[in-house]
Amino acid sequence: MPVARPTAVASHGGLSHLPPLAIDPTVRAAIDQILVQLRRAQASLTGARPADPAKAESYSAWMQRNNELRGRPTMYPYVGAGFGHGLLVELADGSVKWDMLSGIGVHMFGHSDARMVEAALEGALSDLCMQGHLQHNTDVLAVAEILASEAARTSRLRHCFVTNSGCMANENALKICQQKTQSAPRILAFADSFMGRSTTMSQIGDTAAYRQGLVLNTLVDYMPFYDAALAEESTRTTLALLKQTIARYPKQHSCFVMEVVQGEGGFNVASREFLVALMQTCKNASIPVWVDEVQSFGRTENMFAFETLGVGEYVDVATVGKLSQVCACLFTPEFNPGPGLLAGTFSSSTSAYHVGARALEILRTGGYYGPSGRIAKLHQGFRDCAQDLVRRRPEFFPPVLDGAGRTLPSVIGGIGAMLRLTPLGGDKDRLVAFLKILFDEGVIALTCGHGPYHLRFLPPLGVMEVAQFKPVFAILEKALEKALEKTN
Ligand SMILES: Cc1ncc(COP(=O)(O)O)c(C=O)c1O
Repeated sequence: MPVARPTAVASHGGLSHLPPLAIDPTVRAAIDQILVQLRRAQASLTGARPADPAKAESYSAWMQRNNELRGRPTMYPYVGAGFGHGLLVELADGSVKWDMLSGIGVHMFGHSDARMVEAALEGALSDLCMQGHLQHNTDVLAVAEILASEAARTSRLRHCFVTNSGCMANENALKICQQKTQSAPRILAFADSFMGRSTTMSQIGDTAAYRQGLVLNTLVDYMPFYDAALAEESTRTTLALLKQTIARYPKQHSCFVMEVVQGEGGFNVASREFLVALMQTCKNASIPVWVDEVQSFGRTENMFAFETLGVGEYVDVATVGKLSQVCACLFTPEFNPGPGLLAGTFSSSTSAYHVGARALEILRTGGYYGPSGRIAKLHQGFRDCAQDLVRRRPEFFPPVLDGAGRTLPSVIGGIGAMLRLTPLGGDKDRLVAFLKILFDEGVIALTCGHGPYHLRFLPPLGVMEVAQFKPVFAILEKALEKALEKTN
């Protein structure tokens, strides 16, 4: 099958974003040959399989070496073989797993996708491996243009500054907000947020272990996130606290940073009414509204979750990352910072830009978004399988208590391609032990939430088919049986 070539991102005022060598017919024929071989090899990967006993010794030596170098063990014994087929990834021990996490939301076209391999090869044919802010090619514009034009559909965001991690995009956003508010020292953030691992972001993010031992020199005022069980009362409570905090510290806040859908915090979704009430209050007090979409970007029924939740008009600054491959901070013309504030030696690799541009282009033109798009269908497919499991095996799903001691109305949650299931009462230790069993059985997942804890799936939405939930749930069921056997 021939690979669809990029069209819309291929030119910027007549300039191609492909390096000259990548258009050469002989080189193209060679790339096509590679892709034919790739597809041939992929045909052998059709489902999960156990490790090859002949590789056990060398694999365990690898893991040991890896853990020694890191100074601590990794969560999973994962060393990839460098090959896969969509959701399926082969590890260096010969096992094949269903990857329902995709590098915590990065690889939305899964493993060894021919279109992404093609884009990476094109990037590799460029003159430079890395792109920087002083010296960059048209590749960089391709990604920034897609992000800015998608954002501009429903917001006043017009500018895009690319960078190499979600954390760095957030650092840039904070700098922009601080400069705009003449060094206002405080930050408003949601409880249970996550923002990255720099010293500042670790302080703003609301996980105690992530700031253990750091010098706490960032002033953060936490607001409770939306609580769907309380609905309007939740909005009233958070709004009252926000107003009180603003009155307590007038003109002291550089921004309110919001994950409109919380990732690490538990795949919690805010309501539009809740967000509008808070954002309008910030506007009235001249406090910049910054939306951190590093995890939610691309995963709801629109490319930006702020569009899905209908709050784009309030957004001054937004950050994205993960599935875009390259991360970015977007801002309105009024938030365009002074010269010198944002820079960096390199922003990412040329191949990352090519893969990012290709992925974004496929996502925005490939029928993924909207109420009957692929993401909505995928979400429904997940819910159907999850409901079936909950109905058939209630023993896996004892009542889950939330932080306030109330029973969670449903053990199934999330939005779009952020999928959440809460077995084993949402108990942290039981879930962490279960994740290891699940990994051994052939499915990669993670937790989210801070109590209760949930199973977190960020599947490669770009290639996943609804039918693939079936084998994944069969493994999930088997792993839950094993987890229960262990605790009984
Ligand atoms: C909402 C959010 N913001 C920021 C980050 C940090 O991104 P990175 O790990 O690329 O630095 C993450 C990462 O998971 C995230 O989920």
